[in-house]
Amino acid sequence: MQLIYQNKQSEEQILEKSLRYKLDNNFNVEKSKLLFGDNFIGLSYLLNNGYKNKIDLIYIDPPFSTNIDFSSGKNRVSTISSSKKDLLAYTDRLVGEEYLEFLRERLILMKELLSEKGSIYLHIDTKIGHYVKIIMDEVFGKNNFLNEITRIKSNPKNFNRKAYGNQKDVIYFYAKNRGENIWNNITSPLTEEEIKEKFIKKDERGFYNTVPIHAPGESEGPTGKEWKGLFPPVGRHWRVSPDKLTTLDDENLIEWSKTGNPRLKKYSHEHKGKKIQDVWLNFKDPMYPNYPTQKNLDMLDMIVKQSSDTNSIVLDAFAGSGGTLNMANKNGRIFIGIDQSEISLSVIKENLTKASYDEINLSHLSN
Ligand SMILES: C[S@@+](CC[C@H](N)C(=O)[O-])C[C@H]1O[C@@H](n2cnc3c(N)ncnc32)[C@H](O)[C@@H]1O
Repeated sequence: MQLIYQNKQSEEQILEKSLRYKLDNNFNVEKSKLLFGDNFIGLSYLLNNGYKNKIDLIYIDPPFSTNIDFSSGKNRVSTISSSKKDLLAYTDRLVGEEYLEFLRERLILMKELLSEKGSIYLHIDTKIGHYVKIIMDEVFGKNNFLNEITRIKSNPKNFNRKAYGNQKDVIYFYAKNRGENIWNNITSPLTEEEIKEKFIKKDERGFYNTVPIHAPGESEGPTGKEWKGLFPPVGRHWRVSPDKLTTLDDENLIEWSKTGNPRLKKYSHEHKGKKIQDVWLNFKDPMYPNYPTQKNLDMLDMIVKQSSDTNSIVLDAFAGSGGTLNMANKNGRIFIGIDQSEISLSVIKENLTKASYDEINLSHLSN
């Protein structure tokens, strides 16, 4: 399946176009970078300067084809209430096919930049998102689709329109090669209520619940042998060897019921957290952002931790206020940010005062 529209270029044409920006600066791929200028040029520049297959994580939050301008006041940023004194942060005026092709061109370059274990998160709204999903399938391959994440972006709103309130946007998550992508099993902690519900017993070590000391599957080895006069139930084996069970029992980590049934104690403080699902409720955007459409930092922090490693290169080609760059830097990753807005550049620099990076101005080059 493909989206057909006028003026859709072939991948070859796009890659060919990117060769125009072959700049032979020999620079340090290991150092973070902030590129100021159009991101087609910025991405081409990276591609032609040693970054092909080098980037482990890309997060982008492009304009959503809203057909409006986003401004920024001195102490306030808003798209709803604006003042004549506000400065234009960026325009979002591309619509329809032109918008899709703008994004597609850049996604094709990003795919070239992604490492074999890399992945990309694309943040978008529900009005244009489904078209973008088809483009993502085309560029990265349907097989490499991992999730469509629903992100609750705000508290409920009471706009006066004959429809349900819109509280969500979406994130499309793709791997360069599904199954090979960096995945650090970051989990979310249990809430206090969940802890109270799950761990109702208490001893000197804290709150706990109990689980069977056996697991499915028979065993001929030690875990199928007798322990303290008991055998594992039919079709099951001990979770650990009888010797280890004795140690656990000596340490008071096994609880015996009145009927002589042993169960293993599991403490609330040892719980590894819950697998994160594809509906994100706790990453709403800041009420008072310092850049329009600024995204939640905890969300970006989690994405960086989940899908990149220490020393990975993390790219945000629509950097805005630089939240991705900040979180990458905080977690010991190398970051690359690109944006063409002067306001973005100054906000990023304010937020990255302690980071070390090269600044490269590409704004004199035209796309
Ligand atoms: C939705 S905002 C990103 C907000 C960002 N995620 C944050 O948390 O602050 C989109 C950004 O993309 C930038 N942008 C749009 N088109 C661009 C282009 N062709 N090249 C570089 N930056 C671009 C805009 O200047 C804007 O800062």
